[in-house]
Amino acid sequence: MSDGLAGVEGTEFHIEITERYAAHNYHPLPVVLASGEGAWVTDVDGNRYLDCLAGYSALNFGHSHPRLVARAQQQLGTLTLTSRAFFNDQLGPFALALSELTGKEMMLPMNSGAEAVETALKVSRKWGYQVKGVPEDQANIIVMEGNFHGRTTTIISFSDDKVAHDNYGPYTPGFRAVTYGDIEAVRAAVDEHTVAVLFEPIQGEGGVVIPPEGFLR
Ligand SMILES: Cc1ncc(COP(=O)(O)O)c(C=O)c1O
Repeated sequence: MSDGLAGVEGTEFHIEITERYAAHNYHPLPVVLASGEGAWVTDVDGNRYLDCLAGYSALNFGHSHPRLVARAQQQLGTLTLTSRAFFNDQLGPFALALSELTGKEMMLPMNSGAEAVETALKVSRKWGYQVKGVPEDQANIIVMEGNFHGRTTTIISFSDDKVAHDNYGPYTPGFRAVTYGDIEAVRAAVDEHTVAVLFEPIQGEGGVVIPPEGFLR
């Protein structure tokens, strides 16, 4: 299985075995990172880089933050994981602190952006049926052309990126796409069955697209 790898090492070796054995979902830069401290990362050949991506903001606190590493190690050595089939002594204090910090009534922790968007879609539809009085299965959600919200089946149903969308049908209905940043197009698309408008404050997948002044407001 490891044909042709004799003598291949460093960056080239890691890229080759990753491309060969890990399913492709991105087109990464040819840099193989091995360690990081704060905002700086080092690759397997010893080159240092300033990490301006920060795990798409999942890592705004930097790499190997000593307080976070110590706290994670302490918790892993105390109680590793519970499902929501039980209560535990960490979730309640976390929920209280995060709700107070964000000024929200409740919170729901997620593992990924796609799950967060999926949950927002479900909450919006349920609100539509139970509170707004939309007839069963008639809810629509306004989305933006050029969007990227993740890779689940429902989310790619309203993507116009062929790579994300094509070959994964049948698709989930109930979405109307309008031009990003065009507030009149949003207004025209909203009707009595609209339960949400879904958009990125700045689009980031097909280029960086900043909406016109006043659009978010
Ligand atoms: C704007 C936006 N929404 C949603 C997602 C999906 O997040 P995840 O990959 O964690 O599911 C991404 C991921 O890059 C994103 O950029």
